[in-house]
Amino acid sequence: MNMKLFQPLDINGMLIPNRIMAPAMVTHLCDEGGMVNDEVIERYAAYAEGGTGLIVVEAMAIHQNKSGALLRASEDKFIPGLRRLTARVHEVSDSKIVPQIIHFMKVARTGWRQTVDELSVEDIDVIVDQFGAAAARVREAGFDGVELHSAHAYTLSSFLSRANPRKDRYGGDTLEGRLRLIGRVMESVRRAVGKDFPVCVRFNAEEFIKNGYTVEESKLIAQRFAELGFDYLSLSVGGKFEDAVHTPGQVLFPYSGYSGDRCMPGEWLPRGLHVNLAAEIKAHLVAHGFKIPVAIAGKLSDPRDAEKALARGDADIVAIARGLLADPAWGNKVKNGQIDDIVQCDYCNVCKTLDGTHKPVICSLWPQGSLQAPKSLPHSEAPQWSEDGGGLSAKLTESSVTLRWSKLAGAACYDVYRSVGDAPSQFMDAVKICNWTDKTVLGGSRYQYYVRGRSADGRASKPGATAQVDMPLPEYM
Ligand SMILES: Cc1cc2nc3c(=O)[nH]c(=O)nc-3n(C[C@H](O)[C@H](O)[C@H](O)COP(=O)(O)O)c2cc1C
Repeated sequence: MNMKLFQPLDINGMLIPNRIMAPAMVTHLCDEGGMVNDEVIERYAAYAEGGTGLIVVEAMAIHQNKSGALLRASEDKFIPGLRRLTARVHEVSDSKIVPQIIHFMKVARTGWRQTVDELSVEDIDVIVDQFGAAAARVREAGFDGVELHSAHAYTLSSFLSRANPRKDRYGGDTLEGRLRLIGRVMESVRRAVGKDFPVCVRFNAEEFIKNGYTVEESKLIAQRFAELGFDYLSLSVGGKFEDAVHTPGQVLFPYSGYSGDRCMPGEWLPRGLHVNLAAEIKAHLVAHGFKIPVAIAGKLSDPRDAEKALARGDADIVAIARGLLADPAWGNKVKNGQIDDIVQCDYCNVCKTLDGTHKPVICSLWPQGSLQAPKSLPHSEAPQWSEDGGGLSAKLTESSVTLRWSKLAGAACYDVYRSVGDAPSQFMDAVKICNWTDKTVLGGSRYQYYVRGRSADGRASKPGATAQVDMPLPEYM
């Protein structure tokens, strides 16, 4: 298959077999102690077996600050568990695996949070050393590289932010000041792991907060990161404390405000919504002679969108978080042309809510009670509609269309598709019940719908019956 998606890429000696990245996604599958357990291993092995070229393991702490169930690389005692994880991924695939290492500050249930101006210069020195020590541990644990978490609401990102309130050399209202901590961290990490070990970084292409930095500055940040010798840049956005909404009795969740919506965009936001930011940053890097690979995330689980971003050169790697959570075999299915069998993420964000409440992160499309994605059964059959194709009906109100269909034997959920006028049909939603209401129809347009049933292990039926509606114009037109 001649797709850019399946071209290998050499990242400072780490050969990734394709351009598909599972970006870091907290699982809350480990215990409070932060040790790797079997469920953690199963989660990442599924990405490896499913054809994901580069697996970034969820943010793991470099320090001992209290937190919920979070993996840790803060002491040598974590190395054997981490080694079991890397060994399993390497045993089942040629995928590469890197951990995202993180420093975060203190938060309290009252909504209070520690800010970067409360850290002394001695505290900063400790953070610099902790990053170096953690990077050395993950190298020892068999990871193929390391990614520094300098995105969202965490310490490195908060220094980089335009909201950094420090008045000294680590802030002081200047970009150089805001870059100083990560610069020192990179120096410490490189010293700890050597030149031949990929050291990578994730940061925000746009903060999406009032007075936050935008792509105008992230281009310069990317340039500095390339100059510092990072081996890939992984772009995210938003996820800040500054606009987070406090739920009484809970610690502040940085994905609860608008910047959080941008970071983990829900169903109402457009597909591939941040590719334009990657394109600008990539163009800036190329213009300055840097070949450093750039990864971009944000609703790229439609293979056509992912391929387009790569083919146009907007990014070198596509990061697919929730899409791979829904279906870890995404890569293999695209490669084998089994597009219809991909369990498509409908961006309902149940996973995000689980993250916010520190519960094990699962996908609502998996069979109820499952802690892991169901595996494809070797000889499983796709469910098949009977003669009437599910008898799809469409009921109009003056501003919506409600579809109903009959239950399909063997279907665990249903994918609803819609086309407008003569345009190709698009996946709209995945539901576990036999009805769905379309609330974004425009009077004066013609809509056509069909539904596919999907077995618990992901096999999709052929499209069922179609239903066509002509939405009447509203009375004021
Ligand atoms: C449950 C959940 C946990 C996440 N945890 C992390 C994390 O630990 N580190 C990180 O950089 N991003 C994290 N993210 C953000 C994702 O890596 C990704 O950037 C975001 O979901 C947008 O990509 P998507 O549209 O493909 O899901 C998380 C997202 C979700 C939904």
